[in-house]
Amino acid sequence: MNTAQIIQAEHDFLAPTYTRPPFVLNSGKGCYLEDTDGKRYLDTGAGIAVNALGYGDDSLARAMQQSAIGLIHTSNLYYNEPQIQLAQMLVKNSFADKVFFANSGTEANEAAIKFARKFQVENGNPDRKDIIAFYGSFHGRTMGALALTDSEKYQAPFRPLMPGVTFAEFNDMASVRHKISKHTAAIIIEPIQGESGIHLATTAFLQNLRQLCTDQGILLICDEVQCGLGRTGKLWAHQHASITPDLMTIAKPLAAGLPLGAVLMIDQVASAMHTSEHGTTFGGGPFVCSVALHVLQRLCDPKFLSHVQTTGEDLMTKLKQLQSPLLKEVRGMGLMIGVELTIDVGKVKKLAYEQGLILIQARDNVLRLIPPLIWGKAETEALLNRLTGLLIPELIAIEQNGRQP
Ligand SMILES: Cc1ncc(COP(=O)(O)O)c(C=O)c1O
Repeated sequence: MNTAQIIQAEHDFLAPTYTRPPFVLNSGKGCYLEDTDGKRYLDTGAGIAVNALGYGDDSLARAMQQSAIGLIHTSNLYYNEPQIQLAQMLVKNSFADKVFFANSGTEANEAAIKFARKFQVENGNPDRKDIIAFYGSFHGRTMGALALTDSEKYQAPFRPLMPGVTFAEFNDMASVRHKISKHTAAIIIEPIQGESGIHLATTAFLQNLRQLCTDQGILLICDEVQCGLGRTGKLWAHQHASITPDLMTIAKPLAAGLPLGAVLMIDQVASAMHTSEHGTTFGGGPFVCSVALHVLQRLCDPKFLSHVQTTGEDLMTKLKQLQSPLLKEVRGMGLMIGVELTIDVGKVKKLAYEQGLILIQARDNVLRLIPPLIWGKAETEALLNRLTGLLIPELIAIEQNGRQP
């Protein structure tokens, strides 16, 4: 099929849940992607924070080939060595004692909801069912995770959702205290909110939240699906605040684009769950876990993490120096950076595609930079050159009002 045929077939055969730009990506190397017409794009989205190791990585490809020689799937009815090795490695490199594998970030959050409720039941608090989430949150699209997601647009057509969810103001302890009741089982927070436009929880807020949860017998769940696994320059985003949660959900880069999510938890939570109380056919299969072992080994490497930190700091500094009246604020940590503009980012995104730059958006006016973590100085320079040429009000006005014939 040629490019036009693929785009037509997408309209004909796929449910219209996405609006896609008019090109078809089919290969990549490093931080660059190439489309079916041979056009190259610098990628600042990494498949929405998934492709940490970039594209065309030879040792990842070898690890995948090697893993594919072994068993692909056995189900969770049987022992599976790669799954156990991966769990061991996650435990060794985190606060957690135990792991449950799922297939995505959303499913990890669904599992975390059940684990939190079950913990309360087993500890003599069966009336503690409720969960506090935060304004600006995103936790997924299924009926539990969606209930925790602060978006009228995403929620409205699908109600009724899971009951018992209230939202508190991000970075506001008074608001959290106000929302807590004797029915609160858990509080779920993204240490850095991604979908709402890169908003960082402050160290003081995370520390106070941790203390409050401990004092009140409430479980603290960190959703690190987007901000975890090295993206901030530490393996876990909560480490920047020197706290540990009781549960943490992860996914995106864990198996380099193969579907894998996980819930990491302390022993007391894990021991509240018994056989058959939760499960999944695919979650944590031998093939995907074997690939994830390779990925995790590389992400845990202190040199890799310090590269993310220094590259991220350099990129942030340079973005802050950009001169454009369209630029409102640059914020973030590591390679998770939001560039807030005074205009709708959609127009910039369209122009960027033409110039060989893939940008992704958070809310209407934030460019969300979540590139491959192998991003380097050359990519920063290439990005800044392109952004300098893009963030020109006249150019955006032309895009907005229609091109001249
Ligand atoms: C913080 C956070 N939680 C959960 C999810 C849902 O993950 P998934 O799309 O893998 O189901 C996302 C996805 O963007 C996310 O950013």
